[in-house]
Amino acid sequence: MSKTIDTIINKFTNSDRDNLIPILQEIQNAFGYLSEEAIVSVSKHFDLPTSKIFGIATFYDQFVFKPKGKYHILLCNGTSCHTSGSKKILTEIEKILNIKDGETTNDGIFSLQSVNCMGACSLSPVISVNGKFYSKINLIEIKKIIKFYQSLEK
Ligand code: FES
Repeated sequence: MSKTIDTIINKFTNSDRDNLIPILQEIQNAFGYLSEEAIVSVSKHFDLPTSKIFGIATFYDQFVFKPKGKYHILLCNGTSCHTSGSKKILTEIEKILNIKDGETTNDGIFSLQSVNCMGACSLSPVISVNGKFYSKINLIEIKKIIKFYQSLEK
């Protein structure tokens, strides 16, 4: 893994702080998440403490620090979706999968992440599973959607 991390980091020849977010984005694109090893490598490149890099990365919703599940659920918690009941949907997903927002199931099949507006407010509340959008979700539909992905694993 570290060879790829180094390759990504070395593409950015200087340690200008403007490169920090693009480097983190490229690493996440390559691995699906930011590992501890990646944070350490980036901190060396910028000559900053790992706590600083971690602090910056956690500020942005887009970064995750654990491997995603095979089915990665993004749940919109922006204003429109929130008003349309996204919190109840989130609670239902957490209950069914027995994980909290930001976590991955022990078997690595599902992960859940709430995010800000996904740009489909008129269709709220919305979720996506591996990029496939589901709109105007309710508590009955979310159960069906999760059941569908669970059935693919049987
Ligand atoms: S607030 Fe959810 S799509 Fe905009």
